[in-house]
Amino acid sequence: MLKILAVFGTRPEAIKMAPLIKELARHPEEFDCRVAVTAQHREMLDQVLRLFAIRPHYDLDIMRPGQTLFQITCRALEGLERVIGAEKPDLVLVHGDTTTTFAAALAAFYLRVPVGHVEAGLRTRNKYSPFPEEMNRHLTAVVADLHFAPTATARENLLREGVDPGSIYVTGNTVIDALLATVDPAYRFEDPVLAQIDYKRRRVLLVTTHRRENLGDPMREIYLALREVVGLYPDVEVVFPVHRNPAVRQVVEEVLGGLPRVHLIEPLEYQPFVNLMGRCYLVLTDSGGLQEEAPALGKPVLVLRDTTERPEAVEAGTVRLVGTSREAVLYETRRLLDDPLCYRQMAEAVNPYGDGRAARRICQAIRYHFGLASAPPEPFVPGKICRREKILCR
Ligand code: UD1
Ligand code: UDP
Repeated sequence: MLKILAVFGTRPEAIKMAPLIKELARHPEEFDCRVAVTAQHREMLDQVLRLFAIRPHYDLDIMRPGQTLFQITCRALEGLERVIGAEKPDLVLVHGDTTTTFAAALAAFYLRVPVGHVEAGLRTRNKYSPFPEEMNRHLTAVVADLHFAPTATARENLLREGVDPGSIYVTGNTVIDALLATVDPAYRFEDPVLAQIDYKRRRVLLVTTHRRENLGDPMREIYLALREVVGLYPDVEVVFPVHRNPAVRQVVEEVLGGLPRVHLIEPLEYQPFVNLMGRCYLVLTDSGGLQEEAPALGKPVLVLRDTTERPEAVEAGTVRLVGTSREAVLYETRRLLDDPLCYRQMAEAVNPYGDGRAARRICQAIRYHFGLASAPPEPFVPGKICRREKILCR
C-alpha cells in the first residue's frame, strides 16, 4: 500500500487534481490517498472541492486579501512542514506552477519525500512571463522525481533540461478528464443572467483575466477594447466571471461597470463555467487552463498575453496569442466577429491535450515507479481525438 499525499491550493490545481484523486481512491487496496490544501484560494477552491466531493484531510487556510508571493510561500511552507512531517507519505503529488506547487515540492524535498509533478514540462522560456509561474514550474521540476508531462512537447522541454528520460511519462492533461466528465449538452443554467441569454441569436464573448503581470494597465487596455467591441456589435454580449482578486475587480468595475450587454458576474462553479464555454462564440483570456479546454469544445481563444506555454493549440490554429494592447485585442476580436471564414478556421475542435485517460496513466506510472506494475502506461498520443467532445459542445 502506497501512501500518497496530494497537495494543492488554487482553483485550477483542484480541477486538474480531482480526476487523479478520484482514480487513486478507486484502488484503495493499492493507494492510501490523503489530501492537503493550502487554500491559497478560498471561495474559488471550495467551489471545486464541493463539486468533486473532495474532503481534504488538512486545510492550511492561508489565503489573505491581496496576498504577496512571500506570504503565500512562507505560510504554505510552514504549514506543509507539519503536514508532510506527520503523514510521512511515500510520494507527494503537486500540480502545475502555482506558488503552492513550488512550496509543496520544496517542503517535500526538505523532508526527503519523493515528489510527483503533474502537468510537468510546460515552458515559455521567459522568466517573467507568466510571473511567477514560469519559475515555479522550473523549480518544481528540479525537485521532482516523477514528471507527468501532458504532451510530447512538454517531455522534450524536460529532456532539454537534462531530466532523466526514465522519470518522464507522457500522460495527457487531467483537465480533459475533468472536462469530459462535466460538459453536458442538456445542461441548464441556474444563474438567471446565464439562463436568459439566447445563445443562438447572441454572440457571447467569454472573458477571464487574472495574471499578475497583466494587473493594472494591461488589464485596462483589454477592457477598453471590450468596451469598444460591445459598442460596435449590438448582437454581442460579454460574460465576464470576475476573479476575486481586488486588484482585478477595481479596474474591471472602472472600465466595464454598468455597460449594457456586459455581465460582470462572480467566478462560476466549474460545471456552469465549462457549459457556458460550450455555448459561447469566442473566449478571451489570460488563463492557462482555458487554452486547453476551449479548443476541445471547438471555441476560438484569443490569449491576452505575450507568451504561452501551450503551443500545441496555437499550432493547431484554435488559439491565437494577441497580447494586451487595446488595438491588438480590438483588431483580433473584430476579425473573428466579421470574417466567417477566419472564425471557422479557428473553431475546428481539436484536442492536443488529452483523451480523458490522463489520471489512469498517472496511476499506472506511479505503480510502475514503485515496482507494483511490470509495465509503464502507454503514452498519450494526440490525434486519436475523442469525437465525444464535438457532440458535447453542440
Ligand atoms: C493564483 C496563482 C496562479 C494561478 C491562479 C489561478 C500564484 C502566485 N498564482 O493566482 O498561478 O493561475 O491562482 O486562478 O500561485 N482571492 C479571493 N478568493 C479566492 C481566490 C483569490 O478573495 O478564492 C483574492 C485574494 O484577495 C487573494 C487574491 O485574490 O489575495 C490573489 O490570489 P492569489 O492566489 O495570490 O493569485 P491569483 O491571481 O489567484
Ligand atoms: N473556471 C471556473 N470558473 C470560472 C473561471 C474559470 O471554474 O469562473 C475554471 C476553468 O474551466 C479552468 C480553470 O478554472 O479549468 C482555470 O483557472 P484560472 O484561469 O483561474 O487559472 P489558470 O488556468 O490560468 O492557472
